Amino acid sequence: MRIIDLRSDTVTLPTREMLLSILDAELGDDVAREDPTVNRLEQLAAEKFGMEAALFTPSGTQSNLIAVMTHCHRGDEMLVESEAHIYYYEVGGMSAIAGVIPRLIRGKYGVFTGEDVRAALRGNDLHFPPSTLVEIENTHNRAGGTVWKPDDVKSVASVAHDFGMNVHIDGARIFNAAVALDVDVKEYARHVDSISFCLSKGLCAPVGSVLVGNKEFIEKARKVRKMLGGGMRQAGVLAAPGIIALTKMVNRLKEDHDNAKKLARGLTQISSLKVDMKRVQTNIVLLDVSPLNMTSVEFVNKAREKGLLATDFGGTIVRFVTHYGIKEEDIDEAIRIVESIC
Ligand SMILES: Cc1ncc(COP(=O)(O)O)c(C=O)c1O
Repeated sequence: MRIIDLRSDTVTLPTREMLLSILDAELGDDVAREDPTVNRLEQLAAEKFGMEAALFTPSGTQSNLIAVMTHCHRGDEMLVESEAHIYYYEVGGMSAIAGVIPRLIRGKYGVFTGEDVRAALRGNDLHFPPSTLVEIENTHNRAGGTVWKPDDVKSVASVAHDFGMNVHIDGARIFNAAVALDVDVKEYARHVDSISFCLSKGLCAPVGSVLVGNKEFIEKARKVRKMLGGGMRQAGVLAAPGIIALTKMVNRLKEDHDNAKKLARGLTQISSLKVDMKRVQTNIVLLDVSPLNMTSVEFVNKAREKGLLATDFGGTIVRFVTHYGIKEEDIDEAIRIVESIC
């Protein structure tokens, strides 16, 4: 049975070109900053975002944690959307390791405003922790891959900066956002203090994320990465595919977005099913299976028996993610499988 794996874009495998690039990668000890391939990836990432510097990290989770630990002191408060990945899925590292307390903002489709930030701030009082960081997730995973516009980011950043806070973007899928809006990622970077983005999701590299920011921030972040055990030695074997991810895999994300729209439209044609089309902005489709009187776990198990893999997103919501390797005909087949379950 052919398996159509729509669980996540993290299941993408490196391309042949990426695998071959590993053989030719110039290597050195990256902890000593002597790996030319890592240095090249970091320089390329900084240039792409119009930021001063960049740091290669093993994962998006570690990149986000490094950002929090670099921006904040223990006991600080960080403003974050109520279903943000850093709060929902990163094992509580922001509190357990960084010692930072989250203050939640409920966004609309994952997006909140400068006014929301202003409303969440409680002022200077002996009883309150200092609020030092605002975190934005673009695209927003649990909201369904929804996109922040550069102006949305500007509005939040301008209020945050007025109150002396820094702004970090969890841009694990920021290139999906940029491709969806046809904007340069620099349009996000110019408003904020740091961005982390993943090479190993839609961009297909096997491992790694990059954190970008100004020189001083990245110098501090490098020390935090070492503390967390993220200092890698001949990491050029991972950075080489990362360079291909960054230079060759961005523009094709549109194909994933088109496939997600096709899937969402196909699912809404099935009379009993509900998809909120407003959420379908990039490569994620959230399907509500409540009309089938099933939980998402039951649905995911049934789909798996028929060769379609999806993610249980809690309650009655099932998540499908389109990615490299998924073709239009796979989408047709996925729709047929869902129809057969209904
Ligand atoms: C929005 C977002 N941020 C961060 C991460 C963490 O990335 P990693 O799995 O590389 O730790 C993910 C992973 O799916 C994500 O979706």
